[in-house]
This record gives sequence, structure tokens and C-alpha cells, in this order.
Amino acid sequence: MAMQRVLTGITTTGTVHLGNYVGAIRPAILASRDELSESFFFLADYHALIKCSDPALIRQSSKEIAATWLALGLDTEKAVFYRQSDIPEISELNWILCCSAAKGLMNRAHAYKSSIQANEDVGEDADFGVTMGLFSYPVLMAADILMFNAEKIPVGRDQIQHVEMARDIAQRFNHNFTEVFSLPEAVVNEDGAVLQGTDGRKMSKSYSNTIPLFLSEKPLRKAINKIRTNLLEPGVPKDPDDSTVFQLWAAFASTEETARMRNEFQAGIAWGEAKKQLFELINSELADARDNYTRLMDDPGHIESVLLQGAERARQYSGKMICKVREAVGIGAIR
Ligand code: TRP
Repeated sequence: MAMQRVLTGITTTGTVHLGNYVGAIRPAILASRDELSESFFFLADYHALIKCSDPALIRQSSKEIAATWLALGLDTEKAVFYRQSDIPEISELNWILCCSAAKGLMNRAHAYKSSIQANEDVGEDADFGVTMGLFSYPVLMAADILMFNAEKIPVGRDQIQHVEMARDIAQRFNHNFTEVFSLPEAVVNEDGAVLQGTDGRKMSKSYSNTIPLFLSEKPLRKAINKIRTNLLEPGVPKDPDDSTVFQLWAAFASTEETARMRNEFQAGIAWGEAKKQLFELINSELADARDNYTRLMDDPGHIESVLLQGAERARQYSGKMICKVREAVGIGAIR
């Protein structure tokens, strides 16, 4: 079987929570151990600038996210792990792709359209607060992907459209010039991909309902205790499929343990007891990684050196690719 190249970026805004872990990071790290795949994971710090104008937050988030992936055991000898802004070829490709990506395609991007809609809803000028960064976000994302000829792009549902746009942009470029780019495809992790937050809605920073991944024991226990439940008393059967506590349980437990908890729900387990067991379960999966994380956060020099080594490896690919692209469009040395 042929090697398959997998690539995904993580925008460096905010602190990693259990939803990111279960939906994206844990499956990505697992998949990266597959002998038949080559993984490229990167900190999308250029993308962070689109959403966030607080430099301290972006710096902190970049550090936390890098430390998280390393703490969870990403093998950076196998996977290529780097920071987007360390790869200057990406910005160059971004520009070149801007020159073949259709403006009309960008007009259809959900993120941009919802900003426009929000402005129109309140009677503002449609473009109020819309930056060129937001508008051309999908082109930068296409540059991230096409640079490495990545084929499989694990993303959340909200990003599928962007991967499709990258595919469109690649096709158009290949058609206009020469066949330089492979066509990427989005991969959405279907099982248990979307974790519920403490209020029962999708766990998301924008709802303030997240449980940060590396909370220490006490705050973790507290956060789990705060998960919203109904008021059913101990002894009264509870519906596991309508419960955030159960959903989180299933995201961390084995099949057998999940079946056992399902029975306990039907037998009327007390909420306090279910939460206590949930805490023990999550805590035991994360305890070692949390120790690694704390150590890494105290050793930024190590994180930095790992990222720089990753960038060096990534640039072996991007350097060659940008030469091909330049050649294809006709820029470069006079001969
Ligand atoms: N835009 C993605 C997000 O917010 C992050 C990202 C940037 C990305 N570049 C990428 C994901 C390339 C996959 C491939 O989630």
C-alpha cells in the first residue's frame, strides 16, 4: 500500500480543552503512529492573527498547544511538527495562489459570509470589521495544504468547505499551469467527534463551557461536578443518551466500561457518583501527560528546539515545492 500524507493545522488561539483532545488531538496522534501514513501537524499562527489581535494570547496559546502535543506523546521523529510562520515558503505560495484563486470562490466562504450577515443584521456596512485576512483565509489554508501535497486533511465540520476550496484552487492551478499539486480531501472523525460542554451544548470556547485538558486534579474534579444534569434522584433511572456525563464517559472508557455505565444509568446511579467515577477515569488517562505538560511548560527552550527541528524537516519539502511552483508560473532566475 502507498504511503498516505496526512496534514492538519491547529489555530493558536485559546487553551486546549477536552473537546479538542477527544475530537482532534487524540485521534491525530494515534493515526500518526500508523506505519502507512506520514503526518504533518503544525501550529497555525498566521491563522491565529485573523481571529485575534492580542499578541500575548497568541504567544501563550502557541506555547500551550505545542506543549500539549508533545506531552501527549507525539513522536516528532516520525511526524513533522512545526510552526506555520517558520516556513516562509507558505507565505510565498499564499500570494501565488491568491493570483489564481477566484474572488467569487472566497465570497462563498462560510466564515466570511457570516461576518457579512452579522453586519447586515444590525444595519452596519457589510464589510465592517472584515479584514483581508478573514476574506482570504481559505487561500492561506490552501497554501498550508498544497505546499506538502497532503491528501488527507482531518478537520472539524466547519473546515470541510475550506478543504474543498483548497482542492478547487489546486485544480485550477494545475489546469492553468502544470500538474504541481495533489488534490486534498477532508477527513471528518465521525465517532464521538463532537463532545458536549458543561452546559450540554457543543464544547467550544465561544460558549464558555469547556473543560481545559490539563486542569490539575482539584479544578478538574470541580469542573466535572459543575456539568449540568437533570434533577433525577438517586435510584431513578437516567437516560445515558441524554447526558453529558455519559457522553464524556464514553469518550474515555473502553467498550466494556461504557456498557457497564450504561447499565448503571438505567439502574439509577446518583449524579454525584457518576461524576466521581468520571473524574477518576479522565484523571487516570491524563495524569501522566499532565506531568509532562507541566515540565514542558517550564522548559520553553526544549519546545522551541523541537519546533525548529520540525521546521527544518518541513522546509526540505516546502523548498522543493516552491521551486516547482515558481518554475510553473514563470518567476525566478533569468536564463
Ligand atoms: N483553519 C483551521 C481551523 O481553524 C486550522 C488550519 C489552518 C488548518 N491551516 C490548516 C487545518 C490546514 C487543516 C489544514 O481549524
